[in-house]
Amino acid sequence: MTTPSPALTDAVRDRVRSLAADELPAYVYDMAALRTHLAGVRAALPERVELYYAAKANPEPEILAALRPYVDGYEVSSGGELAHVGKAVPDAPLAFGGPGKTPAEVAQALELGVQRFHVESVYELHMLASLAARLAPERRIAVLARFNLPVDDGSLDGSSLAMGGRPTPFGLDPAQAGEVVALLTDGSCPQLELRGIHAHLASGLEAPEQLAVSEAIVTWAAELAAHHRILLTEVVIGGGMAVDYAAPERRFDWTAFGAGLARLADAHPGLTLRIEPGRALTAYCGWYATEVLDVKHSHGEEFAVIRGGTHHLRTPATKGHDQPCTVLPSEAPWPHAWPRSAAQGDLVTVTGQLCTPKDVLARNVPAPGLRAGDRVVFGVAGAYAWNISHHDFLMHPRPGFHFLGAAEPGAAGEA
Ligand SMILES: Cc1ncc(COP(=O)(O)O)c(C=O)c1O
Repeated sequence: MTTPSPALTDAVRDRVRSLAADELPAYVYDMAALRTHLAGVRAALPERVELYYAAKANPEPEILAALRPYVDGYEVSSGGELAHVGKAVPDAPLAFGGPGKTPAEVAQALELGVQRFHVESVYELHMLASLAARLAPERRIAVLARFNLPVDDGSLDGSSLAMGGRPTPFGLDPAQAGEVVALLTDGSCPQLELRGIHAHLASGLEAPEQLAVSEAIVTWAAELAAHHRILLTEVVIGGGMAVDYAAPERRFDWTAFGAGLARLADAHPGLTLRIEPGRALTAYCGWYATEVLDVKHSHGEEFAVIRGGTHHLRTPATKGHDQPCTVLPSEAPWPHAWPRSAAQGDLVTVTGQLCTPKDVLARNVPAPGLRAGDRVVFGVAGAYAWNISHHDFLMHPRPGFHFLGAAEPGAAGEA
């Protein structure tokens, strides 16, 4: 059964009601809600823990700019993100990660003076060393080696997506640790400075599991340093803080996580801990709003076909969940000469305009009496939503974008 969307903020509700049908679908962001959420996250984290934003979650320039006062930097995972984030938040520290970096991207990162490289393979290490010698021979380059660490205690079992702890193309195998440390300390790569270890092992972990994983990563890094008698000063423990689409009012426990990180930081006074969440920072500030075009009965079930679909909001299709949503019944008289379609029962499956049965946004939404022309607003649409969607499939128009309460009215968004 679909859960209702987190309470619509007044600003979002008013904007959705005010839009004409042909201005839908629309992404509506509540920037004040975003700032409040970020202030809460920042306040829950100990001072010694650095917060980077994984730009892949939502790289809208307005979002990146709104995050700036609350984050220490941004994690980017391609040359495209590098250029885009560098332009949206000039002078912000950037960490360049991601598997499969091309020589052109590494060169671009060196030229832009990226502060941290998250190196994912021995091949990449050699490539970076060689390009640095050619393009930035005077500079020391800070490197964090990304490892796919084993986590044996079951903490990854609850994750929605695991990038580590099992065979994946992400990061280095722990068996390569000796080789990597040697390359970075025996003069083979004289410009590269091994600052620390990076790991991002899973998505969708709650605070207790995140803490267990964080502790495992930090312990592994400390043991590596002790074993090789090297100094490591930074450990990135990744993102992946849970967002529960089935219970959107229940948020990741940043307070408990922050308290646990404080204990971990105290136990390792020489280390800077860094986290790089994406989803849990921006998911809650975005809504995808649209209208019901038609309500149909098919083999005993009812379907509401909306204007738009998963080509704008692919999240429920990729994650296999029902996107939480709220119905705003239309108060306007039906404007057409033909009859208005309406649901007969209580539960409706909400689908989009694409010619595929996979274009489902939410199943069994309690929406008795839902009618064509009513508005549907999908919540938790501020991360991995528009930017991961297959926009061009079927060539429907793109949605509008509204940034309510943007910090600088008239600059990039709307007041
Ligand atoms: C290396 C890395 N860091 C951080 C993140 C952000 O993860 P999330 O949005 O789940 O917090 C990702 C997401 O895939 C990632 O690959």
